[in-house]
Amino acid sequence: MQSDFTYMNGQLCAEKVSVSKLAEECGTPLYIYSRSHLIRQYRALADAMKSVQPQIYFAIKSNSNLAVIRTLADQGAGADVVSGGELFRARKAGVPADKIVFAGVGKTAAEIDYALKEGIKFFTVESEPELQRISDRAEAMGVTGRVAIRVNPDVDPKTHKYTSTGKAENKFGVDLTRAERAYDLAARLPGVEVAGMHMHLGSPIMTPTPYAEALQKVRPMCEALKKEIPTFKHLDIGGGLGIAYRFEQDPLDPRDFASAVLPLLHGLDLQIGMEPGRFITGNAGILVTRVEYVKESLEKQFVIVDAAMNDLIRPPLYGAHHEIISVVQTTERAFGDVVGPICESGDFMAENRELPAVEEGDLLAVLSAGAYGFVMASNYNSRGRAAEVMVEGERAEVVRTRETWDDLIRGETIPEWTNS
Ligand code: LLP
Repeated sequence: MQSDFTYMNGQLCAEKVSVSKLAEECGTPLYIYSRSHLIRQYRALADAMKSVQPQIYFAIKSNSNLAVIRTLADQGAGADVVSGGELFRARKAGVPADKIVFAGVGKTAAEIDYALKEGIKFFTVESEPELQRISDRAEAMGVTGRVAIRVNPDVDPKTHKYTSTGKAENKFGVDLTRAERAYDLAARLPGVEVAGMHMHLGSPIMTPTPYAEALQKVRPMCEALKKEIPTFKHLDIGGGLGIAYRFEQDPLDPRDFASAVLPLLHGLDLQIGMEPGRFITGNAGILVTRVEYVKESLEKQFVIVDAAMNDLIRPPLYGAHHEIISVVQTTERAFGDVVGPICESGDFMAENRELPAVEEGDLLAVLSAGAYGFVMASNYNSRGRAAEVMVEGERAEVVRTRETWDDLIRGETIPEWTNS
């Protein structure tokens, strides 16, 4: 795990760049991304699945920095977007419109119009009313909207309840029993054309079993629909492939994934799509933070750092585990919590953990922070969002500058009538 963030002469390096040096130059908290890792992960998946030549739509919700999207677009990736803003980013980063798919349960009319105007590959449709809306908007514009119905195969992905999406109780997709009706409706609507089927089970998923289970359920339906609808050409199997968040954890090997799902895809004669996010970006990034204080309490030590839940919310939100290592290698250990400066007890990166022993001013790296890290950052407690840096080999560049206090109040006004 994390092979692109290793110690060289006792100093943590991002590829070949010293993390301490980057922290000095760019300040902390700081996100650092390894471009080589992004490319390696993308290729490992594309290679493992090459017998079906999948179109990989990078889930840009996991990390939507333009430099990250561009890196993957250069490899041939398309984009899975879930908002007008993500579509805007994907286009700005150079992803061709015909390699973009648009998912999400709540697409607004304005977002649909924008996507139709851009000419995206297809919408992943989550309900019958949405089908109707896409058809109406497309008709009004004199174009056709391509749609893939997102089916909900009712399979348990065995992940956190907030990130599980393919069970009957979740808001996502159309139940298999209702899917036929949705396809009938789509076939009748004047403004849409059925492009195929979509599924996404949840994330992170650590074994290929749920995918195989779901594909067994949807394959017969795909075969039948293909016969009925000549434009039915795509099966998008979603994202969710897990990564190792712990040193001792085995990552999901793309070759194991491929051997479980390929037999269920071969012979279907459909263009296979995949929407990985975390698999590509998760271990491509770290969050570097500086120790402000070490506080001893009755029970344990609190390492108070300058990164907080507004920078990385996964630990408090999902109880997610992120390994934390020191930037200058040490074998000395301490026990306690790593916490941020925000005024909430939920503001922690690690709780009750064996940690590297550190002092005020030392640097720590929170690992596996490349996915759902910066993208979920907020300005809570009026904290500017961190800077982001991309490295490759010996090169490094700031790919997003740190937010300033002026950025924090951009767009705010005080109404004159409040001056009494
Ligand atoms: N496709 C669809 C339709 C999705 O909803 C998602 C993730 C993906 C693809 C990409 O999933 P990935 O390959 O990155 O696991 N904030 C949570 C994760 C939420 C995922 C939402 N949908 C976390 O930090 O774990």
